[in-house]
This record gives sequence, C-alpha cells and structure tokens, in this order.
Amino acid sequence: MPDAIPVFTGFGLGLRKQHHREFLDADQPVDFVEIISENFMACGGRPLATIEAVRERLPVAMHGVSMSLGSTQGLSRDYLAELKALARRIDPLWISDHLCWTGVDGLNTHDLLPLPYTEEALAICAANIALAQDVLERPLLIENPSSYVAFPDNTMQEWEFLTALTERTGCYLLLDVNNVYVSSVNHGFDPAAFLRGIPAERVRQMHLAGHSAGPGGMLIDTHDAPVRAEVWTLYREAAARFGPGATMIERDDAIPPLGELLGELAIARKIAGERLAA
Ligand SMILES: [Fe+2]
Repeated sequence: MPDAIPVFTGFGLGLRKQHHREFLDADQPVDFVEIISENFMACGGRPLATIEAVRERLPVAMHGVSMSLGSTQGLSRDYLAELKALARRIDPLWISDHLCWTGVDGLNTHDLLPLPYTEEALAICAANIALAQDVLERPLLIENPSSYVAFPDNTMQEWEFLTALTERTGCYLLLDVNNVYVSSVNHGFDPAAFLRGIPAERVRQMHLAGHSAGPGGMLIDTHDAPVRAEVWTLYREAAARFGPGATMIERDDAIPPLGELLGELAIARKIAGERLAA
C-alpha cells in the first residue's frame, strides 16, 4: 500500500497559460495551483520552466486527463514514465486523474468516456490504479467525471464504485462538486446521496466549475462559465462534510481575467469559513 497523502487545506486555481505572466510577476492570493499534467509532459522548454518558477512560490497539484484508468488494455508504461518524470521535477502535492477511459489501441479520444459501474469494471480499474500507484510510488486522487449516459448493466452507484476503489487500492478522491451536480441532473439521483456515500477521510481536493444547459434538459460540463448557484449550494454541504481540503476553481474555456477567478475563489473561502465556524 502506498504512503498516505496528508491533508492540505487551502484555496487554489487551475493554472492556465493566460495567467502565467501574472503568477510569475507577483504573488497571487492563492494557496496552490493545479496544472494539467499532459501540457508539460515531454515538452520541456519554456512551459516547463514557467511551472518550475511558479513551483518556487506555490504548491502544485498535477491533474491528468489521459491515464485511462478504466481501460481493459491496461495503462501505457510510456505515459506513466513521462508522468513520473514530471512529478520528480515538480514534487507535486499529489497526482490525480479521472474515473473514465479515454481511448483504445493507443488512440486518445481526448474525452473522459463513462464506465459501467459493475464488478468487472471495478476489478479492471482497481488493477490499473494499483499499477499506476506502484509505478508512481504514491497514491492517486481519483476524480468523479460528469456523465451523460448510463449503462443498463450497472450494479452499483458511482459513489459506491468510488468507495470500493478507495478500499481496494488505498487511493484518495478528488471530488468535483460541479460534476456531481451535472450528473445528478442528467441521471436523476440525489447529489446529497453522492456526498453521503463517499468516505470523508479519503477526499483531499474539490473542484468547482461552471456548466451549461444542453438539449433535453441535460447539463453539460463546459468549464466555460462561473460556478452556478446550485453548485455553490452543494459545495456548502460538501465543505460541511469534508472540510474545504484543497478547493479550487477549474476554468478551462472562456478564460476570464485572473481577478474574476480570484473573486469566485473568495466565495469558496467564505462558504467554507462559514461552514467551519458553524
Ligand atoms: Fe474537475
């Protein structure tokens, strides 16, 4: 079993290239930043130098989108080696990826594709997570994705699947509060049941993001807008149950000025502070 990940409490942002200069030129009022690992793997040069400079000021979490933990074909050893090399340079708070699969036969679809929540899929995911943790020599944080379809042969809920993964592999959880809300609307479950259903002691980080209305009453996890009121309400419950942990705003498109994201982060600080005081 890999070593435990200590609790880190703070408020951060996903670091996007539009804001690199501001993070390099001055201290910003954040406690950590999160990078997309793939943007800096095997690239070297200026992007990596930028992250290493930011790392001198702030803790950095590494967040991946291509490990494909649900793959029936196992994990790419080359990918894991590149990820480990980046982790050696960054010394991150932790490394996270999603509960999904992203491709087949070496093809990366660049989508977070949904898994059936079955015993068979659980065994595959657990084996892949165990392998990744052995190679990386650290536990992973696993994030709940947004989903738009469900499999008819599901035998458990997403939160039961995640809980079983923590028990089988010793992994931790990155709770994306927006993804819980989006999936709860798309699939008609109670988002509070999701929060109650995962082990509080395994949650190390929370994502907050914006979503958009899709066709037929569905919600789409677009990350291109401010956090919606419904998600702030759910975050209030999450902060009460899990503490703030490492909470961050995750904006990936229509990137606004840094001040706007810091304003959203101030709301998260206020909500978490009120919950802790209560
Ligand atoms: Fe997320």
